[in-house]
Amino acid sequence: MIVGQRIESYIAALGASPDPVLAAMEALAERRGFPIVGRHTGTLLGLLARCIGARRVLELGSGYGYSALWFARALPEDGTVICSDLSAGNRDLALGYFRTAGLESRIDFRVGDGLTIAREQTPGFDIVFNDIDKVDYPASVEVAVSLLKSGGLFITDNTLWKGKVAEDGPGDENTEAVRAFNKLVFSRPDLESVIIPIRDGLTVCRKK
Ligand SMILES: C[S@@+](CC[C@H](N)C(=O)[O-])C[C@H]1O[C@@H](n2cnc3c(N)ncnc32)[C@H](O)[C@@H]1O
Repeated sequence: MIVGQRIESYIAALGASPDPVLAAMEALAERRGFPIVGRHTGTLLGLLARCIGARRVLELGSGYGYSALWFARALPEDGTVICSDLSAGNRDLALGYFRTAGLESRIDFRVGDGLTIAREQTPGFDIVFNDIDKVDYPASVEVAVSLLKSGGLFITDNTLWKGKVAEDGPGDENTEAVRAFNKLVFSRPDLESVIIPIRDGLTVCRKK
């Protein structure tokens, strides 16, 4: 968390409209200590999807579908979120939550390495959302950008990495990977990039 507990609590207290399925997923994350994007970032993901009229979303690292459900709610009826995760258990949980939410027609969940699954996709995505292991962040850039439409968004979570990216000196493997990722996207002339200091940092890149 980048902005501090006081600000986070203030924003949380303003409240988003309660949603029983998202609330159940948040409760599971709390019980398991599982790192979901949370309600504040989830709201932003849905809002960005609505702003660009997104229809096709690809997620790399979907967990049990919490961030995907925020996207799915923002898509038109025939929209799709292609999810990917290493865990079949996460897929089963996600499908259950999407069924309860009445949104099972909008999810296509693939089990396996997100980068491999991404390389099998046909380009034309409105959004690629990236939340896989941090060491793989630099390798995600080329494939994600190649899959996006012009005007599409490449959104990546945890890009301030608990503030470690801004510390002096060399960092651990994950910190160095996140630093390399941020440098890479900011240096690409085909992307307009910004880091939003929400929760653990969210890098949002628009493909020109
Ligand atoms: C931070 S959690 C995802 C949370 C999810 N985006 C949300 O907010 O609801 C990261 C997930 O990525 C998965 N993961 C890590 N590396 C991966 C990879 N290379 N390919 C696919 N999934 C991966 C893990 O199994 C884990 O479930």
